[in-house]
Amino acid sequence: MTRQPTTDDKFSFGLWTVGWTGTDPFGLPTRPALAPWEYAERLAELGVWGITFHDNDVFPFDADDATKERNLARLEEATARCGLTIEMVTTNTFTHPVFKDGGLTANDRSIRRFGLRKILRAVDLAAQVGATTFVMWGGREGSEYDGSKDIFAAFERYKEGLDTVAGYIKSQGYDLRIALEPKPNEPRGDIFLPTVGHALALIAELEHGDIIGLNPETGHEQMSNLNYTHALGQALWSGKLFHIDLNGQRGLKYDQDLVFGHGDLVSAFFTVDLLENGFPGYPDGPRYTGPRHFDYKPSRTEHLTGVWESAKACMATYLMLADKARAFRADSRVQEAMAYSGVLDLAQPTLDEGESIEAFLHIDDGFDPDEAAERDFGFVRLQQLALEHLIG
Ligand code: GCO
Ligand code: MN
Ligand code: MN
Repeated sequence: MTRQPTTDDKFSFGLWTVGWTGTDPFGLPTRPALAPWEYAERLAELGVWGITFHDNDVFPFDADDATKERNLARLEEATARCGLTIEMVTTNTFTHPVFKDGGLTANDRSIRRFGLRKILRAVDLAAQVGATTFVMWGGREGSEYDGSKDIFAAFERYKEGLDTVAGYIKSQGYDLRIALEPKPNEPRGDIFLPTVGHALALIAELEHGDIIGLNPETGHEQMSNLNYTHALGQALWSGKLFHIDLNGQRGLKYDQDLVFGHGDLVSAFFTVDLLENGFPGYPDGPRYTGPRHFDYKPSRTEHLTGVWESAKACMATYLMLADKARAFRADSRVQEAMAYSGVLDLAQPTLDEGESIEAFLHIDDGFDPDEAAERDFGFVRLQQLALEHLIG
């Protein structure tokens, strides 16, 4: 069996994950709510390293200052006592009906001003508790009907909002980076920044994009039928993989937020392989060293026992896949298969160093396309070896 997680594994959970009581559009809660610090204490007992939360996971939307302070102090006391790190904080700009048309991109300017202020206050909160990542998931930034949004204006306002928040972080000298979380839909019919690629493109247009990166979620990319491991890889290549939300999703459905690995297991294997072992052709290349953060929902069929079982399952699955991914890379058959497949050759630049385009265009290197077309890449054998490690 898998070893127990320790704080060295850097596993973290959102308080809203284990804290989800099972309310969905069709049904009432199926289990009781605990206090935020009780979730933190239980997570620490499981070997978790860190926690994350929305402002309103810790105090209600309409809490007065005294209540905010009291709840925060209580949570901080618990995390300090249990040795937990508060690694990320985010803002809830989606639950209260005021945000039904968004926070930063609502058509109503007074709502945008309210939303932006709520986000800035959450930034202060994040700095106060020592978080180093500030996630921004614009779940309500979007529309159901194309005629209802001026898309140009929506991106102007998104940019204005993000630059204001990032500029504020810099002006306050906070040790905090923003991580945008893409999602294609749900709760809006269509959400702005539907994928990692869209978010990277927006960041490139920002004034303070240097402290803004990504928080890609497994299921969110898969809801767009995209490859999560590729999304992580591109974000890493861009120097923008600031945080991750690991979970499970089976196909093009509503956001399932399943336990990590309970969706596409082969994809989860390669996700962990990338996170643990990096790019095969770049031993000194970029690596993700941040928290292994889970954003899942314990299924509403489970009571509290099942909540803790599912949190343990996320970590156990990750650890099992990490062992298997290490064995996969170390296997001499895999190394041979990789060489046969040319996996490592892709790291070699296509042009020679200092080669002029003129020379390149005219050189006769005797290349025969028909002969080259006969190459067997052996990708299937390589994949089968991965499968052998995964289920063998
Ligand atoms: C989702 C999202 C949310 C966000 C979280 C952080 O499942 O739709 O992942 O859970 O991650 O609210 O803002
Ligand atoms: Mn999700
Ligand atoms: Mn998420």
